[in-house]
Amino acid sequence: MTLTRYSRVAVFGGVYSNHLALAAAIRDAKLREVDAMVCLGDLGAFGPNPDRVFPILHSNDVSVVKGNYDDSISRGLDDCQCGYTEPRDNYYARLSYQYTFKNTSAKNRAWMGTFPDEIRFQLGDLTVLACHGSPRQMNEFLWESTTPTHFLDMLSREHKTDVIVSTHTGIHWERRWGDFNAYVNVGALGRPANDGRTEVWYSVLEAEGQDLAVEFVPVTYDHEALAREMRDEELPEEFVETILTGWWTTCLEILPGKERAAGKF
Ligand SMILES: [Fe+2]
Repeated sequence: MTLTRYSRVAVFGGVYSNHLALAAAIRDAKLREVDAMVCLGDLGAFGPNPDRVFPILHSNDVSVVKGNYDDSISRGLDDCQCGYTEPRDNYYARLSYQYTFKNTSAKNRAWMGTFPDEIRFQLGDLTVLACHGSPRQMNEFLWESTTPTHFLDMLSREHKTDVIVSTHTGIHWERRWGDFNAYVNVGALGRPANDGRTEVWYSVLEAEGQDLAVEFVPVTYDHEALAREMRDEELPEEFVETILTGWWTTCLEILPGKERAAGKF
């Protein structure tokens, strides 16, 4: 199969209904003259008014990979398949999921069901596999501190790709190995990276031949407007606090020790 070949792409992680950040990231990516924009799924969750995300994706030709949230909402499952294990994480995940399900139109739910589990393309001379969690499991968490390089190498070999890009964890990082292999967690647009900054993050990948450049881009957007919208929708004040402070307050029991220690809570 011949893959579409690009030289510079923008890759967006979980949107979590943050339509203001999505619009800001797309504006930024266009200024950087990217050839294509890819979103790695989880359009809903956490934020307000999930249906506001869809027209932005449509009108800007963003390709979307299916995330666990999109899979659950499109199939009408009773849980987000987020992969949390602690009751406190699951309590907030359930609140988000019920709100998002109730506020996503039937048309948008059906569209989410059509997203592919992965998108492959050529970047320079490198092959890239874009997925949500990992190439083998949609809701696998790939954290920097707990993901060995030999495991990433195994995934690359088994799935026949030079580069893997994914999201799902919400914290951006990258790893290089071999002559030109790479894994890039592109971060998330939906909530800040638990670093005390209100910006959210996306990634620009560029390759010349086998030479890959990865840039993590902070996105400034009107986070106070998003917070107002969240309060209007009566979403938990803990979620609003994260948007206003840059620190995670919920769904963080899942963090490994090192990533947890880097946050405030
Ligand atoms: Fe996810």
